[in-house]
This record gives sequence, C-alpha cells and structure tokens, in this order.
Amino acid sequence: MGSPLTGRGSAGGKLILCGEHAVVYGHPAIALGVDRGTRVTMREVDGALRVVDADGHALDDPRLREAVATLIPEGWEVRVSSELPIGRGMGSSAALAVALVRAEADARGLTLTAEGVHERAFAVERKFHGNPSGIDHAVAARGGVVRYRRTLEGPEITPLPVPDWALVVLDSGEEGNTAALVAGVGARRPGIDPLLDRIGEVVTEAEKHLHDPVAVGRLLLENHALLVAIGVSTPRLNDLVAAAVQCGATGAKLAGAGGGGVVIALTADPAPVLAALRARGLHGFVCRPSPARAEA
Ligand code: PMV
Repeated sequence: MGSPLTGRGSAGGKLILCGEHAVVYGHPAIALGVDRGTRVTMREVDGALRVVDADGHALDDPRLREAVATLIPEGWEVRVSSELPIGRGMGSSAALAVALVRAEADARGLTLTAEGVHERAFAVERKFHGNPSGIDHAVAARGGVVRYRRTLEGPEITPLPVPDWALVVLDSGEEGNTAALVAGVGARRPGIDPLLDRIGEVVTEAEKHLHDPVAVGRLLLENHALLVAIGVSTPRLNDLVAAAVQCGATGAKLAGAGGGGVVIALTADPAPVLAALRARGLHGFVCRPSPARAEA
C-alpha cells in the first residue's frame, strides 16, 4: 500500500456589515472577509472517522461530527484549527465548511470551481443550521467585500470596492444559536416582512455610500434598531452598541444571527475608539476590510 492520502484547506471568517436575516429571504446583504480563519488537515487512517482539534484531542460536538461526515467517510482523521470564536457571528461554521471542502478536494487531487466549493460547503453548513442564505460561505470562500443576494437561480455575489474605514469588534461573551434565531425570524413572518424589506433598503443605501463612514455608521444604527424590532438582539448587545457610539464610533450594530455574538462599530480611526472603550472596561479588536483571495 502507498503512503496514506492527505489534504489541507483553509478559509476565512466574515462579518456581516448589514442585511443579516433579511438576506435569508432574498434581500441583499453586505459582508466582508476578516483576516482570521480556519484550517483543516486530513489524513487517511485505519478505522472510523475521527475529528480532532489542533492538538489532536477529539472534538465530540455531534453537529460538528455530522457536518464533517456529510463530506468525509470513515477512515479519515480530520484536524480542525480555528481562530474564529464559535457562535459569535463571525462565520466559524462556514469557514469550517469551506476549509473542509478544500481539504477533501486536495486529498483527492481535484480542482474545484468557485461554484463547486459554494455548493458543497452549502450542504455541509445545512447541518449547522437548516436554512442558510449562503452568505457566510460565499465570503469564507472568497474574502473581500461583497454584496450577496440569494435568488432562485443561485447566489448573486457582487464584489464591492474595499473601503478605507475599520470595524472595532466587541464580543458580547454570549453565544447565539443561529439555527434557532433564523427559525424564530421565519416564524414571525409575514408580520415582520416590512421590517425585513426596510433592512434590504438600508443595505442598498449603505452600498451607495460605502466609502463614507458617517453615512454608513448612521445606516448601521438603523439596521441595529431593525434587528432589535425583529427580535434577535439582547440587552447586552444593545448596551455595547450604545457604548461604541458614546466612545466615538460613527455607528454600530450586532453582526450575524444575534442572540449574542459580536457587535461591530464603524470608525475611520479605531485607536481613540478602542482607548475610550478600554477606559470603560470593554476590549475590542480591529478588523479591516481586506481584498478578495486570488483563487476565490
Ligand atoms: O451568526 P452567523 O455568522 O451564522 O450569521 C448568520 C447570518 C443570517 O443572515 C442570520 C443567516 C444566514 O444564513 O444568512
């Protein structure tokens, strides 16, 4: 027998600038790739499928195992190392899905098209939450700044120019359950449809003014208020949004499914905002929009 097959793949996390939840129902959203991500290495082994962390310890989360098993059969060890916090709206499950698809293709010596990566990663992410819009793994796969829209014909992904501002990210310390939050929003329709429509309009306006941190900041605040109204925010997230604005951000909102996760605060100059937040005992980190990967 020859030497065991191996494969490796990686993908980045994402932050949704605006449009989450409404994007599930065909409205546009804007998201950006972040410079943190997930790496998967896999190798052939004797026996059952094993999913382990960077140190080789077994990862027992049943949803994680199930997601890996959609793609990888028995007889492989899959090693996952991630810099993305789980359940914080930074696209950790999508980054895992894309990294896994790439590692599997690498192990088999296959070259996948961008559509192939998207389709296979979508199937994996469905195990984490039943009705993903696809925005997370579109950004995990290509990075950069994109407008994303789910259409009946498939995803519409439009690269946008990379703006010059920065996002200060504040972790609420709470974990949101994306599947439950997306299902909850679905259950509150059609009553909340006008709010989802307005989120779509906010996104279209943000795209027009993407380079203007003051205009986008104002739109982020409106988007946050709409997310509060559709029932996905928490008191802690609302407090962090208020604190970020008091500390000099031009606007802020929860990012991702909500129920916890992170708040993003927009600013042209992150240093004084970070310092003012720190003075209140709040520790943020900076994410800058980055260009797309060459081989999306
Ligand atoms: O919390 P996250 O990173 O899984 O983001 C979910 C974004 C939603 O719009 C709420 C769901 C989706 O699939 O688009």
